[in-house]
Amino acid sequence: TLIDKVLGREDTRSLTMNEPHPHSWLDAGAQGVIGQPLDRIEGPLKVSGKATYAAEYPAQRLSYGVLVRAPFGSGTIRDVHADAARALPGVIDVVTDYPSFIRNPQQGGEQKAPTQGVQKVDYHGEIVAIVVAETFEAARDAALRVKVDYEPRDGAYVFAAHRDQAERPAPDQIPPHLAKGDVDAAMADAAFTIDATYTTPSQNSAAMEPHASIAEWRDGTLILHGSYQMVASDQMQLAAALGVGKDQVRIISRYVGGGFGSKLGIAPESVAAAIAAKRLQRPVKVAMARQQVFDATVRRSNTEQRIRLAADATGRLTGLAHETLASNLPGEDFFEPAGIGTQFAYAADNRLIDHKLVRLNWLLAGSMRAPGEAVGMLALEAAMDELAYAVGIDPIELRRRNEPAKDPQNDIPFSTRLLIPCLDRGAELFGWSDRKPQPATDRRGEWWHGVGVAAAVRSNMLQKSSATVELTTDGRAIVSTDMTDIGTGTYTILAQIAAETLGLPLDRVSVHLGDGAAPPSAGSGGSWGAGSSGSSVYLACEGLREKLAKAMGVDVEAMTLKDGRAIAENRAVEIAELVGDGLSVTGSIAPGKQEKLHRQASYGAHFAEVKVNAVTGEVRVERMLGVFAAGRILNAKTARSQCLGGMTFGIGAALSEELVHDPRNGKVVNRDLAEYHVPVNADIPQIEVEFLDERDVHANPIHAKGIGELGISGAGAAIANAIYHATGVRVRDYPITCDKLL
Ligand code: MOS
Repeated sequence: TLIDKVLGREDTRSLTMNEPHPHSWLDAGAQGVIGQPLDRIEGPLKVSGKATYAAEYPAQRLSYGVLVRAPFGSGTIRDVHADAARALPGVIDVVTDYPSFIRNPQQGGEQKAPTQGVQKVDYHGEIVAIVVAETFEAARDAALRVKVDYEPRDGAYVFAAHRDQAERPAPDQIPPHLAKGDVDAAMADAAFTIDATYTTPSQNSAAMEPHASIAEWRDGTLILHGSYQMVASDQMQLAAALGVGKDQVRIISRYVGGGFGSKLGIAPESVAAAIAAKRLQRPVKVAMARQQVFDATVRRSNTEQRIRLAADATGRLTGLAHETLASNLPGEDFFEPAGIGTQFAYAADNRLIDHKLVRLNWLLAGSMRAPGEAVGMLALEAAMDELAYAVGIDPIELRRRNEPAKDPQNDIPFSTRLLIPCLDRGAELFGWSDRKPQPATDRRGEWWHGVGVAAAVRSNMLQKSSATVELTTDGRAIVSTDMTDIGTGTYTILAQIAAETLGLPLDRVSVHLGDGAAPPSAGSGGSWGAGSSGSSVYLACEGLREKLAKAMGVDVEAMTLKDGRAIAENRAVEIAELVGDGLSVTGSIAPGKQEKLHRQASYGAHFAEVKVNAVTGEVRVERMLGVFAAGRILNAKTARSQCLGGMTFGIGAALSEELVHDPRNGKVVNRDLAEYHVPVNADIPQIEVEFLDERDVHANPIHAKGIGELGISGAGAAIANAIYHATGVRVRDYPITCDKLL
């Protein structure tokens, strides 16, 4: 049609964030849908069982794989004896040449070439073979009959025994070492000092949906239904693991029952399913048991963090050091970056941030929700609380006195920073002024009561991300991207962005996610998902707006899009009449100079009230409040849910979550939800969440920043600080269990 010729049916629109981007169609808000607390659009599918998760896809001639794991911590395999397993009825095959390097590559990038069969085992439970059978039960039975013959090697199984051999990891995107001035001198000259060491244990993401994959090869291409957070990079990892081209792997992750980092990189079950499916020329499903998720995917590293604070007589910091020991397997580069938030949290002229790794034969360590801040703020914010008591000033006032005008590490401006307004607003809502300054003064019967506060900081990141938005002839919009919704609300916010920018009612927008055949996105990780994928959808819609204005013959600035109609110059035209045979624009966002010119982060303040039983040491969280500033809030309900989830994680980190490693072989001892204690409903009090109004024009064109990992940052510290206020007992070894308080 003529319109198609004038407009160009398919187009692209790209933006690299080199400049601030103050203009946003979302601010016009004609449709009035952005920011609204809308229910998740896929919610009814989930609660009615109609949303198909990875393990639930039907397949012809489906077979079942069960992973065989090393029953020792460190050693060299001599042989895998599988004859007894193969002889069982229903067993199809036992694959013993599972490639040895696949642990759960967390950071993307290139993989080493596959090797044939596992020779060297580095941790208890590492995958060494896969049994495939006609039924799950037969496969599970057979897996127990596979015998692994091995030569044991010495392993490092106890953190304390090897901590002195810690070494600094190689420089990465997150620098392991930053230094400015002289902290030792600042400590020597200070009016007040804190020098305290905090420890946090290994933790598990404990996503509700265990890892599962169904693999099927069709004409040389692998179709893998899996439960993953970052489809595009996971496809590359899987292709490298299998030794095939990256366009020979298509991952589909339409619904993901939580990830929290454990599904950032591929886990062993996807590789196992893919290898077995190729060998057998039929589809293979591998669904991990909960125990396997705990001991054969990935953990958050334990940490030992030494914080030193040097302050003048008024509490102003002159020196700040945050030195972290974390652990990982030999040869693994990932380190828990506990000092990452400390880079910019507070002013201090003399600064030191350092990370070292202790090499242990424990399960792989990788990213878990807010890698760095989640445990780093458990230390830094407790230390700040200790300093407030030492100086004798209110902990909020201490933070006010240490508010930096500029990023103290890199001497660049903050894009936005509403930390103090979050603390002030929180204090007002929480009734902070009622707090008695002295600890252990409020006892009611058996219970000591106390309140605590902590700051939240979380770096904001933008990642390359693409999405296609199509306007159909009947005036509907279809959003397609390989972006995932891991329970965060991505389906809904992308629909809201498209509906708002295109002036469509929400029910005229469909969102298709999680298919590796669609334009590659940033995926869900590092709290960059909404800002990055949302920007790509926004840019596509911005391109479509221009096409609609052109079709109408008006200036794009003079046109309002609302309720499916384009309105300009006293004319109102149905959008459907302007799209010809349909229009499609692919939007792409990429990070640019803005992230180097401004320190970008989101901020918040946590307030907690606890009671501690004087007889048993039991801690009950009575109430919590979080006030956050994270740029534009795209959906008030899903954003609030993210923060509720993060704060709940914080309660677990403070009070109950701890992976225990057997000192004889590193094995994860408590590897299910009965033994690894995540908070349950009865542990969670009334939690209030409020967002401050904010836009960040340096972050991206939708002015939104990350939320998912902000809610956990500092949450546990507020509880630890409340426990100290209640009891006068400072426990620096998380989790703060009853025994440590008595
Ligand atoms: Mo997050 S730990 O980057 O899923």
